[in-house]
Order: sequence, then structure tokens, then C-alpha cells
Amino acid sequence: MEQEKAKKAAAEAAAKLIEPNTVVGLGTGSTAVYFIEALARRVETEGFAIKAAVASSRRSAEQAHQLGLPVKDLGDVFQVDLTVDGADEIDPQKRMIKGRGGAHVREKILASSSGEMVVIADETKLVERLGVGVLPVEIVGYGAPSTRVKVENLGYRSSWRQSPDGSLFLTDNGNLLLDLSFEEPLSHPEEVHEELIHIPGVVDTGFFFQIAGRILIGRPNGTVEIR
Ligand code: 5RP
Repeated sequence: MEQEKAKKAAAEAAAKLIEPNTVVGLGTGSTAVYFIEALARRVETEGFAIKAAVASSRRSAEQAHQLGLPVKDLGDVFQVDLTVDGADEIDPQKRMIKGRGGAHVREKILASSSGEMVVIADETKLVERLGVGVLPVEIVGYGAPSTRVKVENLGYRSSWRQSPDGSLFLTDNGNLLLDLSFEEPLSHPEEVHEELIHIPGVVDTGFFFQIAGRILIGRPNGTVEIR
């Protein structure tokens, strides 16, 4: 599929940015899966070693471990040199929405502990304004229905994220995800974040502001644009 080729191109270009003996942060999602594969391939075929790989989810940790990467906890390394992660929406100011893969809280902690967050994506992720699709918001289970009412009283429609079997989706942190939708894309996403983040029970929104470093946009013909 064309989109998969584009994701792979971005992921492979990101793997080439990794320096030997560094601590690498691993994102979550289908584009991050390609990055983890490409990084493991470099380590296996180029006699190239990294100091550690720190994952933003159990899924990514498991994949990295199975491919032989030296997985460590963030608490054991404290500082990550470079994290590579995907995104759901990216605007021209490099503001992003993340978390449709369910891991934005850990992804934000990891990115903020990294020298640089390199974002890998295909061009379908580029938007003029954020809020085209849903905004994931992680919510503590205790009192979750009442937290949702407070969110909806701000004028946003929402639905609880479900797992494929129809049960409520739980993040790696044991919390719920509320997916917010907007009538139209947002002119001031920072204001929306600010309203939501102060509601008790909201852990964090999927907005990423001033965190992205280089953005690698893959194209189906294998070329990659760096922004
Ligand atoms: C997971 C994320 C992902 O990075 C985001 O959803 C992009 O995923 P994909 O690479 O599968 O399109 O934020 O929480």
C-alpha cells in the first residue's frame, strides 16, 4: 500500500540518523514499528551498537526486545538522546495531535526527556489546522463519567475509546481514553489544551506543542522531506 511505503521511507531515514552508543527513544504506532525494525536491522547488519532503547509503550518495548535491542526503562537512563515517533496530525508550526495509538502520555514524557524528538509520518498527517480528527485525552478511571461531563460542558463531543473486542480501552497507565471531536479544525489549540488540562481527572491531552524537532515526511516513491 502506498501509505505504508511512505511510512517505511520516513522510518528508514530516521534509523539512519541514530548515532552509535546513544540512548534511543522508541515511539508507538505503525510508523514506529517500521522504525524499530529499521533500527534493529542496522544494529544487526552494520556492527552498530546503541546504548539503550527506551520505549513509550509495552508494545514497542516487546517488539524491540524481540528484535534484540537493549531495552531499558526511562527511570534507569533518565536522559534519552533522540526519540523517534509518529504523529496523527502535524500543522505548519509543528504542533501535533498524537495518541490515536493510545500512548500519548508516555510518548510526551519520553519526548520531553529527549535531546530531540524526530517525527516520522506520511503526508496524510499534514494538516493546515489541528483537530481534523479526534483529540485523545487520557482520563483517570476514578470518577471518569463525571470527568467526561466536565469535558463535554466545555462544548466538546466525546466518546470512550474501545478495544477491538468492544471493551473499554485501557492505556499502559491503566487509564481510559476519551476521544474528543470538534465541529471544525481549531484556530487556537493551545487554548483547548489549557481548558482541558485543568480538569481534575484529565491526565494529559494528545496535543504536542514545541516538542517536535525534525519532521521526516515520507513519500510512496521512497523520498523523504525533512522539515
Ligand atoms: C500513538 C501515537 C502514534 O504515534 C500516532 O497515532 C501515529 O500512529 P501511526 O504511525 O500508526 O499512524 O501517537 O499513541
